[in-house]
Amino acid sequence: MDREASAIESHPLPADLDTASAIQDRELRYTSGVYAKRPVAIVRGQGARLWDAEGREYIDCVGGQGAANLGHANPVVAQAIAEQARVLVSCPEIFFNDQRAALLEKLTALTGMPRAFLCNSGTEAIEAALKFSRLSTRRIEIVAAMRGFHGRTLGALSATWEKKYRTPFEPLVPGFSHVPYNDLDALEAAVGERTAAVILEVVQGEGGVNPGKREYLRLAQALCRERGALLILDEVQTGFGRTGKTFAFQHVDLEPDLLCLAKSIAGGFPMGATLLGPRLGDLPMQVHGSTFGGNPLACAAAMAAMRFLEENALPERAAELGAWFIDRLRTIRSPLVREVRGLGLMVGIELKQKVTPYLQALMGRGVLALPAGLTVMRFLPPLVISRLELEVVVSAVQDVLVSPLETD
Ligand SMILES: Cc1ncc(COP(=O)(O)O)c(C=O)c1O
Repeated sequence: MDREASAIESHPLPADLDTASAIQDRELRYTSGVYAKRPVAIVRGQGARLWDAEGREYIDCVGGQGAANLGHANPVVAQAIAEQARVLVSCPEIFFNDQRAALLEKLTALTGMPRAFLCNSGTEAIEAALKFSRLSTRRIEIVAAMRGFHGRTLGALSATWEKKYRTPFEPLVPGFSHVPYNDLDALEAAVGERTAAVILEVVQGEGGVNPGKREYLRLAQALCRERGALLILDEVQTGFGRTGKTFAFQHVDLEPDLLCLAKSIAGGFPMGATLLGPRLGDLPMQVHGSTFGGNPLACAAAMAAMRFLEENALPERAAELGAWFIDRLRTIRSPLVREVRGLGLMVGIELKQKVTPYLQALMGRGVLALPAGLTVMRFLPPLVISRLELEVVVSAVQDVLVSPLETD
């Protein structure tokens, strides 16, 4: 993997590339306006590095917001996409397909869950899980967690907690309630005979990098079984090695009824999946579907991604590097830091202040990272990142948290 880092310098930028400001102007003129953008145009990536239109290099701890676990421009995924693109791209699920059959077999073997519905994004994987839960239980209520994030379509948004995302679109889907995360009593009180499903992240991502307690997650499973509800685990962000296991539920020996996956499932190529456990029962034909779902191109990319993940032991790498990274970050002595926490290479530093100026300062030092809520700095580097690159990240974080921002 460290060989990748040394290969980086050998890719010059194309001469006819637009300037950074031309790219930004054009995008700003025509984009929807719903994204808060950083003033940088990223044009190329390799491994855990990104380059902007001016040729400036960054160490990437945004990691495509969790979609780039396998590293940018992953050669194995790139080759699989190129080969499949020449063979067959579109094949709706009214037909059978070789790539899809192989992927379904692989996903069910990896998760230990018998069946899967394939789609194109995280929010779609959640929508499917919510709809299937209603169908299977004939109940409509869903218990979700405060600070949970599950996506932006109306069903997934109803499970999402953050007001700023919800309020503009109310009224949302009825029947959703939110309980404090990691509060066992509140969960026990919320799950009843009308509950179709409990939906949880194993580690809350957007909500602040909050790992779920073992006893809380196990209680969620026990309550669902006892009270006839289904357990939906949202591993859109935690899946595919991020937390140090292939799936985060494997840290806590859970058997979810529905498991939602996306982001890194196909090495960064858009795809989602909802794995279906045995308690779900048979689903009636034609109740749900997707034109692009299970298309051969995404399936081929996902097969290559899973092969790469396994052959390079990326979950184990995330466990080892993540523990080391968290230890190193904890050595930073700054009055700004409230807590450093995380699991594997999903890491957060909670500050006592708003995080945005510190993220900007980090970018000025060549490190890209994410916020999680207002005060948490979140790191989701590609799992191929080297220890050396992480050491550079630690120094940059130390710099911005110890020296005053005015010096930037
Ligand atoms: C835990 C979780 N669930 C669902 C989603 C939604 O995924 P997508 O943006 O692919 O719709 C996200 C996206 O950040 C997420 O982190």
